[in-house]
Amino acid sequence: MHNDLREILLSEAELRDGVRRLGERISADYAGRCITLVGVLKGSVFFLTDLAREIKTDVRMDFTMVSSYSGERSTGVVRMLLDLKESIEGSDVIIVEDIVDSGLTMEYLLQNLKTRRPRSLEVCTLLDKPSRRRSQVAIKYSGFSIPDKFVVGYGLDFNGLYRNLPYIGVLKQEVIEGNKSCR
Ligand code: IMP
Repeated sequence: MHNDLREILLSEAELRDGVRRLGERISADYAGRCITLVGVLKGSVFFLTDLAREIKTDVRMDFTMVSSYSGERSTGVVRMLLDLKESIEGSDVIIVEDIVDSGLTMEYLLQNLKTRRPRSLEVCTLLDKPSRRRSQVAIKYSGFSIPDKFVVGYGLDFNGLYRNLPYIGVLKQEVIEGNKSCR
């Protein structure tokens, strides 16, 4: 385990099983259709690439980047930093997110993408922190429900760090307070 972590919340094997289960459900629900997976950069990248390989129907991928976070806590203001490359009009779209926390990011994304008239629009999140919800967004596919702890790894970061950990763990409080970064 990385020295900056207090505990491992989800091991590599648990993540693999969770992603496989989500892939099976999505494959069954969208059999014979083509799915547009919209990955929310940067946190969803590891999850998205693993999930896409577990989906048995046709898939295309596009990406968006939104910003609402600085450090450990949300500012509550969501901005789109990078827009999709392709049109999603008439498409079956699944937004792929690393974690839904307050739900404000997802609420913003759902509202934004809905105006582009996709055929269907659903949410797939690896992690869900329901205790901190401020906006009740409908999540069709959720990998794991987790307690209100700040987690890193498998795409999730703190100041840009720890995304490359193959598991998900809880950061030590002293690392958060020390505001560790790459520089
Ligand atoms: P929300 O708008 O509060 O739902 O926040 C969603 C975004 O906040 C996610 O896409 C993550 O980038 C970030 N986030 C929320 N909780 C955590 C966490 O525990 N670790 C790392 N990032 C988090």
